[in-house]
Amino acid sequence: MITNTEVEKRGNQFPNNIIDFKHDNEKVYFTTQNGVLLEITILRDSMVRFRYATEFAFEPDFSYAISSEVNTGYNELEVEEKDTSFTIATSKVVIRVAKKNLKITISDLEGNIINQDDNGFHWEENFDYGGNVVKMTKVTQSGESFYGGGDKASHTNLKGKRISNWVTDSYAYGKDQEPLYKSIPFYIGLHNEKAYGIFFDNSFGTYFDFAHERRNLTSFWADGGEMNYYFFYGPKISQVVEAYTDLTGVPELPPMWALGFHQSKWSYYPESKVKEVAKTFRDLKIPCDAIYLDIDYMDGFRCFTWDNQKFPDPKRMIDELEEDGFKTITMIDPGLKIDREYDIYQQAMENDFFCKRADGPHFKGKVWPGECKFPDFTNPKVREWWATLYKEMIADMGVHGVWNDMNEPAIMEVPTKTANLDVRHDYDGHPCSHRKAHNVYGMQMVRATYNGVKKYTFPKRPFVLTRAAYSGTQRYCATWTGDNVATWEHLWIANVQMQRMCMSGYSFVGSDIGGFAEQPNGELFARWIQLGVFHPFCRVHSSGDHGDQEPWSFGEEVTNIVRKFIELRYELLPYLYTAFYKYIENGVPMLQSLVYYDQADTQTHFRTDEFLFGEQILVCPVQEPNSQGRRMYVPKGKWYNYWTDELVEGGVEKWVSAPLDRIPLFIKEGAMIPKYPVQQYVGEKKLTELKIDVYFKEGKEDSVIYEDQLEGFDYKKGRYSLRNFRLLGKPNELIIQQFKDGSFTTTYENFKIQFHGLPFKIKEIEVDNEVVSFESLKFNGNNAIEVSKDMTAIHLIGE
Ligand code: GLC
Repeated sequence: MITNTEVEKRGNQFPNNIIDFKHDNEKVYFTTQNGVLLEITILRDSMVRFRYATEFAFEPDFSYAISSEVNTGYNELEVEEKDTSFTIATSKVVIRVAKKNLKITISDLEGNIINQDDNGFHWEENFDYGGNVVKMTKVTQSGESFYGGGDKASHTNLKGKRISNWVTDSYAYGKDQEPLYKSIPFYIGLHNEKAYGIFFDNSFGTYFDFAHERRNLTSFWADGGEMNYYFFYGPKISQVVEAYTDLTGVPELPPMWALGFHQSKWSYYPESKVKEVAKTFRDLKIPCDAIYLDIDYMDGFRCFTWDNQKFPDPKRMIDELEEDGFKTITMIDPGLKIDREYDIYQQAMENDFFCKRADGPHFKGKVWPGECKFPDFTNPKVREWWATLYKEMIADMGVHGVWNDMNEPAIMEVPTKTANLDVRHDYDGHPCSHRKAHNVYGMQMVRATYNGVKKYTFPKRPFVLTRAAYSGTQRYCATWTGDNVATWEHLWIANVQMQRMCMSGYSFVGSDIGGFAEQPNGELFARWIQLGVFHPFCRVHSSGDHGDQEPWSFGEEVTNIVRKFIELRYELLPYLYTAFYKYIENGVPMLQSLVYYDQADTQTHFRTDEFLFGEQILVCPVQEPNSQGRRMYVPKGKWYNYWTDELVEGGVEKWVSAPLDRIPLFIKEGAMIPKYPVQQYVGEKKLTELKIDVYFKEGKEDSVIYEDQLEGFDYKKGRYSLRNFRLLGKPNELIIQQFKDGSFTTTYENFKIQFHGLPFKIKEIEVDNEVVSFESLKFNGNNAIEVSKDMTAIHLIGE
């Protein structure tokens, strides 16, 4: 039992013996003598929901987290009453519910315990607010590790930690600081090579204790609401993450430019400054797709207005930037300045859209423009209205994307940093206080923003970015990890935060590269860029007060390094885009911690630095100054050093050379990595070829390349190109087969294939079963050929 949770005023209460039981389709209900209800829902054979209530009554069932598109359905379900328990068996797990106290034990079909209640569900009446503090205590299994949990700035393995979820503006946060900007109450447990996951879908403040207070106990609890959690059985971490991601949803594909490099600062103004930054990118030939306007573009920080002094003709500026390949992204905050002359404030007043305190007056809080009122985004009418406000900005002026900030909501000059707890919310027709709505407030704001931006950007794809998030927010937008600091420790934090977010269903994520607060030196900036180009969202952003943070702000050596890595990102865009496709299609995280990659190897359980970018590229950032390289763990299997083509055998820790212009980077053997030519922005060049780097392997390996129009929604109607490749290498030959799917025709005709690590000299080539002379295909020395993109099989035969 967990002890130091809340002020324990009334003591814990526990369920007692089961007096009633009912099985109705996918649901099984239990009632205890002292009024506890347990509803178990079988969503899939390995996905089960547990929901508890006290006093014989459930609250209405409602969640912002769950996707409307979740796949459900199971193969088997058998419910049996035994002497001391009930058992519920599916084709993957057996759940035992103890008759005398409602405790749960979940086993696999071989009888191995996967997850087990210690005290199980218990609760404490909340004297101050009503309702219960709901609690769950589980047994920590021997050797158990814990992962996931959203944006925590802690070791990837959460064992021994306690975390809390209460979305908070955390300027210049530190390592292990709690709570941060997001609430993602989901974790993965791994023991005895088997993984499971738990998603505690409760929007109140939630807490998780991973064997921190007591070595053998894992607990989670919430300040109110229901004990309502989903259990996912693996046994692989990948299956757990995919199931959680399916349950809470995925985004649509972003426009490809959103995966390019983005430059931001608080703030670029006036127009001439924005233009100068944009021009410098083009002059120095550093690729860049988007430029951000922070709060200073507004008139006195009033959302949806422009400062006409700084930006006399925003539409013209945005058009001109677009001609030069730049997309313009503007910031919108939730707080509306209290100002009778401000029409948007007036509209919200007239429509009664602002949040109110318990006794009726509007909630007021100070943000950038001074005193503000806050729309209640948990009211669907407010969301509809908010979406319409984007018309002028997007449809009329041509802004390409929107950045929602301060949406925790962040309030200045109050110790709580946010709204008062008595503030009332609609919560989509389930009225409640801010205690319940706080963690979803930002999510509902950005949901409204997404709807508006999508509507007015159509037929193009929307791009939206948020700071605050609750589970499921990934359906609407990308996110960044808030106000970090330009320190080496924060480079480490950025690395673990991105891995953790990706493992928590939220892949479209990035950090403020270089650090938001304070200023990096050139070395730190270069090392951070080297990491940041491997994050799904890649943006430099910094506060204005600490000097410049553009790629050219640190001298020529750093400028050249930064360019080299941004160019690498642009080359890898088709690989990254394919990773995005796998994420939305199958829930595969775009970054994978080593434990995800190989959970059977216990060496991976406590690794933090190394990760997979997509499924075939291994990255390990340099996180210390003055390094010429670093030690890192190369996971099992064979890997090619990207820089040297040296083939290394994994399963060991290695010293890897990485002077300032390199990051340790390895390609999985057998991989086929697609590359586009370097462009200054997405769409600059018409693609006339697709380069594919093929890394020889003795054995089989599959690779995928996904492409489409890079914009629009035709891909949803089958207008995409999905190339599935199978590589089969033998000592003296190599076969590559292609199976193509989708009706999109790419603009290029040929693949330019570069072979790496071929153990033989090519003697003969067959393309689609016909012998072709090597001379007629080769284009770049002895290991590169150019073939039609429609080929179905290439067969290289060695001398
Ligand atoms: C917040 C944001 C930051 C932004 C600043 C000014 O601190 O996190 O990114 O630059 O507000 O809008």
